[in-house]
Amino acid sequence: MTEQQKEIYRQVTKWFHEARNRILEGRARGLDVQNKTSRLDLVTNIDKEIECFFREKINENFSDSAILGEEGNKADFKSSKGLFWVIDPIDGTMNFVKQAANFASMIAIYQDQKPLLGFIYDVIHDRLYWGGPGIGVYCNKEQLPAPKNIQLKDGLLGVNGPMMLTNYRNLQEVIRKSAGARIYGSAGIEFIHVLTGQCVGYLSHLRPWDYAAGSILAESLNLSVKTIDGKLLDVVSSEDVLVATKNAYIEISALMSAK
Ligand code: IPD
Ligand code: CA
Ligand code: CA
Repeated sequence: MTEQQKEIYRQVTKWFHEARNRILEGRARGLDVQNKTSRLDLVTNIDKEIECFFREKINENFSDSAILGEEGNKADFKSSKGLFWVIDPIDGTMNFVKQAANFASMIAIYQDQKPLLGFIYDVIHDRLYWGGPGIGVYCNKEQLPAPKNIQLKDGLLGVNGPMMLTNYRNLQEVIRKSAGARIYGSAGIEFIHVLTGQCVGYLSHLRPWDYAAGSILAESLNLSVKTIDGKLLDVVSSEDVLVATKNAYIEISALMSAK
């Protein structure tokens, strides 16, 4: 790890632990829940508070940074120089509200538009998945092995519920060819399942803050992470993102291009 990566890791780890206390205490006090675009798209006072908290810490410690956050200002990635931070303060807000489980907090960091570090924090289990190019991926202090390059038939596939219901681009056929579908409702938690080899892949329509951290980690473990059509993710566009073992990626992409 470079000195810069070490310093960011040291800081961000502290922030996530403080964020955990705020999230758990805030939820215990009672949430203020609002609809964003619909009753299925929620935001809480804690989503906003945690994003503000991360922004304050970034500005205090890495003052020359640009920030793209789900609940706040959205700096432009394409024109960025130096450090660029992508924040999803609570990923899986519906689960956070309804289950108090199965949600994550995520930060991705780029330097001159190149991936530097990704962090997905499984808040309830206090497991921080982090890593980046040349570093590998860790769960807290333990390094994760790269998942085996299994085929679609040998693994569970994480999917997006509405895409499955509407048989989006032949998705039901893809599921039939897998060992089964799983829907967890948090992109961060779904990425963790692929990073740890618990799922062969994950497919969903995602925005940059949903996929930035996960894609940095997935690439560091030699997984394929692109759009279904093989386009690279650009941290600007909302995309149909497919992360999978290299073998499964080829199979799924071919099946979804067939119709
Ligand atoms: C959502 C979750 C969900 C995915 C949605 C995301 P949010 O994030 O990751 O699994 O299907 O597309 O928007 O809004 O809870 O941060
Ligand atoms: Ca969110
Ligand atoms: Ca999200």
